Amino acid sequence: MEKINSLTGMADLIGHKDKKSNQSDSIFQVEKKLIEIFENYSLQEIRTPALESEKLFNRSVGDLSDIVNKELYTFKDKNEKSISLRPEGTAGVARSIIEKKLDNESHRFWYLGPMWRYERPQKGRYRQFYQAGVELIGYEEGLSELEMISLVISINSELNINDSIIKINHLGDRKAKEGFCQSLKEYLEPYRSELDEKDIDRLSKNPLRILDSKNSNTQKILKNAPKISDFISDEASNLLNTIKNTYPENHIEIDHSLVRGLDYYTGFVFEAVSENLGAQDSYLGGGRYDELFEDLGGKSLPAIGMAIGIERLSYIAKNEFFEPTLVHFIILSDKIEEKAYKIAHDLRSCNRKLIIEVQLSQGSLKSKLRRANKDNATFAIIIGKDELDSDSVILKSLKEENSSQKQLNIDELQDFLKSLD
Ligand code: HAM
Repeated sequence: MEKINSLTGMADLIGHKDKKSNQSDSIFQVEKKLIEIFENYSLQEIRTPALESEKLFNRSVGDLSDIVNKELYTFKDKNEKSISLRPEGTAGVARSIIEKKLDNESHRFWYLGPMWRYERPQKGRYRQFYQAGVELIGYEEGLSELEMISLVISINSELNINDSIIKINHLGDRKAKEGFCQSLKEYLEPYRSELDEKDIDRLSKNPLRILDSKNSNTQKILKNAPKISDFISDEASNLLNTIKNTYPENHIEIDHSLVRGLDYYTGFVFEAVSENLGAQDSYLGGGRYDELFEDLGGKSLPAIGMAIGIERLSYIAKNEFFEPTLVHFIILSDKIEEKAYKIAHDLRSCNRKLIIEVQLSQGSLKSKLRRANKDNATFAIIIGKDELDSDSVILKSLKEENSSQKQLNIDELQDFLKSLD
């Protein structure tokens, strides 16, 4: 029979007992850690659907952005409605807040889930990938910018990332952004014949994106181009300096070429990059989007947010895997022993920090102990016919040199398990 494979750029994440050398476990671990940090910042969880109307992304991320123009997974449902798999989380969150009429109060949200972009896959760039996002909604420019960068710094320190550079910029309000775009366009027009195809396309559709160009000749031409810093207010420049000065021991750089690939940004934008990631070096990014709610038919509501690429973060995070004590529970009988199984069931509530694995396959004591050792278990609890008759178990310590063992009654066993870390 023909085998069926997964789609290009879409990975299976499969946990393994040897967590240290398994990338999927590193992803799961990073997700758990992020949720802990989000809760520490008093953020609430929000979950929105993976599928939305295509027009939601046209009107938020923007028709002219690569994400919508080239990378959106869009298809017709059975009712001929054009729907898209979300390429990011902010648009869905804003849609939800407007739809549920929650746009007259402020919110501090986090979310985590898969996103889809039809990109050319390579290391750190997938067609299905995971993002953890944060949205602070209903907050004006100021403290919320400091809060976002504080969160980035906490993520870096909790996950032991020490080569991070946090790039920050200010795009001004929509008027300043448009003024800058216009003047950039006027400056670049005479150089049109020197630009590559991609940059010519950007020049007519989205001139700001040219600042991101990887072409060295374009970058040379841009040296004398108008600068966003000439278009933004003194308050905006002050904000960038304040952020840099608030966290002097962290590597924060003001980078006026940082523009971000989504259209909804106005004002403060940022990205964190790490040298260890190679070509796809940005592991998180975000910014302010004060006009998005109105653009989507809601009330005017200021907001700022960011999203973290989980796969990229897991490559650079230096996780200290916390390994709880593993106990193997071995029942020596060919038939189902309800009493023995009930003992195992009750043990799990003794100490929820322990991992208790009831061996489910048949076999000799020797083969079962071999399995427990192979899994690196610290203890084996063995229960055979004699133990069942005397309401006791054998507790065998597997890590000691002369693996000692003793017989305990059930109360003694429970007390012992409660005492373990
Ligand atoms: P973004 O910069 O498009 O922003 O994506 C955020 C992060 O998602 C990137 O820094 C990267 O780590 C990861 N990422 C993006 N595309 C891929 C991919 N194809 N494969 C693997 N990882 C990827 C946003 O999505 C905005 N919604 C962030 C935001 C939230 N702004 C305001 N609120």
